[in-house]
Amino acid sequence: MNEPVVSFVNVNKTYDGKALVVDDLNLSVHRGEFLTLLGSSGSGKTSSLMMVAGFEMPTSGDILLDGRSITRLPAYRRNIGVVFQNYALFPHMTVAENLAFPLQARKVGKAEIVKKVSRVLEIVRLTGYEARKATQLSGGQQQRVALARALIFDPALILMDEPLGALDRQLREAMQYEIKHIHDTLGISVIYVTHDQDEALAMSNRVVVLEKGKIEQVGTPKELYETPATAFVAGFVGENNCMKGRVRLAESDRCVIAMPWGDVSAITVGPAGAGRDTTWSVRPERIEFDSGSGDLDNVYDGVVKDVVYLGDQIRIYVAIGGNTFVLKVTNKSELAVLTIGQRVKVGWRAKDCRAFGLPH
Ligand SMILES: Nc1ncnc2c1ncn2[C@@H]1O[C@H](COP(=O)(O)OP(=O)(O)OP(=O)(O)O)[C@@H](O)[C@H]1O
Ligand SMILES: [Mg+2]
Repeated sequence: MNEPVVSFVNVNKTYDGKALVVDDLNLSVHRGEFLTLLGSSGSGKTSSLMMVAGFEMPTSGDILLDGRSITRLPAYRRNIGVVFQNYALFPHMTVAENLAFPLQARKVGKAEIVKKVSRVLEIVRLTGYEARKATQLSGGQQQRVALARALIFDPALILMDEPLGALDRQLREAMQYEIKHIHDTLGISVIYVTHDQDEALAMSNRVVVLEKGKIEQVGTPKELYETPATAFVAGFVGENNCMKGRVRLAESDRCVIAMPWGDVSAITVGPAGAGRDTTWSVRPERIEFDSGSGDLDNVYDGVVKDVVYLGDQIRIYVAIGGNTFVLKVTNKSELAVLTIGQRVKVGWRAKDCRAFGLPH
C-alpha cells in the first residue's frame, strides 16, 4: 500500500499567469488507496484532478504515474479511468453502445467488446440493461454506467470528480457504498473529489483538505476529525464550536485560554504561547451536562437557548457568557426534558479542546 501510484511534485497551476490555483502541491497517492481531495468551491480540486487526467498541464512541477513523469503524456495514453459529475453519456446510444464506444475507437475486437461490456455491467450491477437507452435510466443508473465506462479499460487508477453531486441523498449514500465496494474488490486506486465532508469521511482511506490551492492537512478520516491541525480543518471537517480568545498560560502541550466567562483548559496545537491570540474548538458531541463527578476540566454556567429535535439526535444551543455553543446529544428515551431559558451546567475535557495558532 505504500508504493505511490501517483505523485504530485512541486506542482503549481495558474490559468491567468497570476493567481496560483494549485500552489506547490506535493502529494503521493498509494497503490490501492482511496484518496479524497476535500475542499470548498474554488480550492483547486478539479484543477488537480485534471492535471492527473491529462486535460490540463501543470504550470510548473511534475506529476508521476508509477514513478514516471506523465506531464507530457497525452491523456489517452495514461490509462486512467475518469468519472465526472455530468456523466455525459451519449443519450441516443444504448448502455452497451455507450460502453463499447471507447473500445471501438481503439479497434478492440467485437467478441472482446461484448466480454468487457458484460463484465463491467456486472461490476456496477446493471446486467440486463445493455439495450436501454441512456435517457431511459435513472440518475443513479446513469452514474453507474459512467463508472462502468471508466472501468472498461481495466485502469489501475480512477479519478472521480463529484460523481454523486447530482443525486439525492439516499441514492448518493447507496452509490457511496457501491463505489467503495468496487474499490475494495477490484483493488484499484481512486482519487475522489468532493466538497462534502461526510462523503469524504465515509469513503476514504485518506483525505486531503485543500484550501486556496494548498494542503491544509492530510490524514485518515479519524485523524482529521480527532486531531485537526489547523482551525480551518477543525471548522471544515465535521462540526465544531470555534471561538477566539487569548492564551493566558502555556506549558508543554497544554494551555489556558482566558475567556470573558472564565478560563478554558485546552491542548496546544498550533503556536499558542502565553499572550497570543488563538482560535480554539470543541466538538458538539464532546460537551456534556455536568453530573458533578468532577471529570470535566472545564465547567460553566449556561442557559438553554434552543432545542432542535433531529430524530436520532438532539441539538441543544447553550449560551455561556455571550457565546452560543452547540451540543449534540444522542436521542435516548431517558433524555431529560430541557426547556428554553433553563439554567444548566455544561463542560468538557481539556483533551477535547484544541487551541490553534492564528494564520499569519
Ligand atoms: N479553465 C479555467 N480557466 C480559468 N480559471 C479557471 C479554470 N478552471 C478553474 N479556474 C479557476 O481556478 C480556481 C480553482 O478551480 P477548480 O475548478 O480547480 O476548483 P474546485 O475546487 O474544483 O471547485 P468546485 O468545488 O467549485 O468544483 C477557481 O478560482 C477557478 O475559477
Ligand atoms: Mg470542481
